[in-house]
Amino acid sequence: PQVCWLSPEQTAGKQKPYMYTQGQAVLNRSFFPCFDTPSVKFTYSATVKVPEGFTAVMSATSWEKQKDNTFVFKMSQPIPSYLIALVVGDIVSADVGPRSRVWAEPCLIEAAKKEYDGVIEEFLVVGEKLFGPYVWGRYDILFMPPSFPFGGMENPCLTFVTPCLLAGDRSLADVIIHEISHSWFGNLVTNASWGEFWLNEGFTMYAQRRISTEVYGLPYTCLEAATGRALLRQHMDATGEDHPLNKLRVVIEPGVNPDDTYNETPYEKGYCFVSYLAHLVGNQSKFDAFLQAYGNRFKFQSITADDTLGFFLEYFPELKEKGVDSIPGFEFDRWLHTPGWPPYLPDLSPGQQLMRPAEELAELWAADSLNMEAIEAVDIMGWRTYQLVYFLDQILQKSPLPEGNVKRLSKMYPKISKAQNAELRLRWCQIVLKNNLEAEYSKVKDFLHSQGKQKYTLPLYRAMWGGSEAARALAMETFSATAPQLHVNVQNYVKKILGLAE
Ligand code: BES
Ligand code: ZN
Repeated sequence: PQVCWLSPEQTAGKQKPYMYTQGQAVLNRSFFPCFDTPSVKFTYSATVKVPEGFTAVMSATSWEKQKDNTFVFKMSQPIPSYLIALVVGDIVSADVGPRSRVWAEPCLIEAAKKEYDGVIEEFLVVGEKLFGPYVWGRYDILFMPPSFPFGGMENPCLTFVTPCLLAGDRSLADVIIHEISHSWFGNLVTNASWGEFWLNEGFTMYAQRRISTEVYGLPYTCLEAATGRALLRQHMDATGEDHPLNKLRVVIEPGVNPDDTYNETPYEKGYCFVSYLAHLVGNQSKFDAFLQAYGNRFKFQSITADDTLGFFLEYFPELKEKGVDSIPGFEFDRWLHTPGWPPYLPDLSPGQQLMRPAEELAELWAADSLNMEAIEAVDIMGWRTYQLVYFLDQILQKSPLPEGNVKRLSKMYPKISKAQNAELRLRWCQIVLKNNLEAEYSKVKDFLHSQGKQKYTLPLYRAMWGGSEAARALAMETFSATAPQLHVNVQNYVKKILGLAE
């Protein structure tokens, strides 16, 4: 299941086959013999011979093409097994910074270069300023075929990303900043087991939003964080707050695939816990300095939350003295072991200036009789993508809207209902389904045919399966047409949703 072999039709260019690997969490054991646990780190080298007309790339610190289409790779820093990755395809590259290039199929390379030319270096420089030296040499980005199941995968030296990021306006750069942040949190300091996944993702969400705050400012970053919090809310509502997976430290029994425990909790509740630690410190630059010391203390190691929290208390002895690990209601143990909504939420009010207009507009659209004058007075043309996303999340929460409203909304805002941006398309499709707008079902179908990202695919199948007869039929029809191009994991999750699993 680790090695994905794509036929030409499954690529963007549709000319040549393609293969890629995705190691996280425990798939690399079917790629090469290894201790397939994040608690073991090692260096590697690889010699890969490919047919004429193909290029091989790997997550490696050095790379050399020899004769006979043979590529030699070396990773000189110790990494866990899940970070080894290989792609072979008809791919080319273009420089976008002093230590960065983009890789993509030839038909996408122009768009890829345009999207990120000149911006990656700034993210790296800010990351280094905040968290210490970038130890991996290069930071390149590979745009994957449309069926790649993730937004991004932090393979060292070479992040893999979905081609959905090619929005034309850099609006989805938060994914790149996220993967860059893993260069310190995850790739340098690694969770020792998948039950401690929040150490990778929670710290990375925090680091991502620190970089974002420096580059884009606090209001925008709070807006993005609010959309993250909404995802956590949706997840906890769907599973029930008490679900055992809604703890930061998860018990993964033998035989359970860690990928089956994947959810928003390690990301967004983890983000809240790290924000809480920062709140205890009470001073941003002191907390930034702690993060840098943390990276330095545990670099190239695999650790548990006990190591992290022990180091935190050691680094801030005055907090240890105060007993901050056992403040009633906020005990570190409670954070780790109690499922449910985070006991502390960072203040996102600096984002209000961007969120308020979206909330107000959503209110207007949810009314029984629409106040078109008030609606027309709001000009959304200048809104950032995440403001529109936030608006659509509000609409979705209020859906189904009174009869006819969504149809009207669709007509009024082609910027939304005909959007090419994947985050907007996802929300629009969710709204179409929740409001049973059969006239626009084709948009759901087109979106699911155009890409296979897990976080887009599963919510839409869940919505279809929970909807009308027609929606269920749409789900079946779409799945039977697209299943072969989905990643096996995603295929299996969809089968479960549709009751097709054995
Ligand atoms: N490392 C994850 C992707 C992953 C997690 C793959 C678990 C396999 C198993 C990556 O860094 C990630 O979190 N990607 C997110 C980006 C988002 C949070 C900005 C994604 O793909 O949505
Ligand atoms: Zn991540």
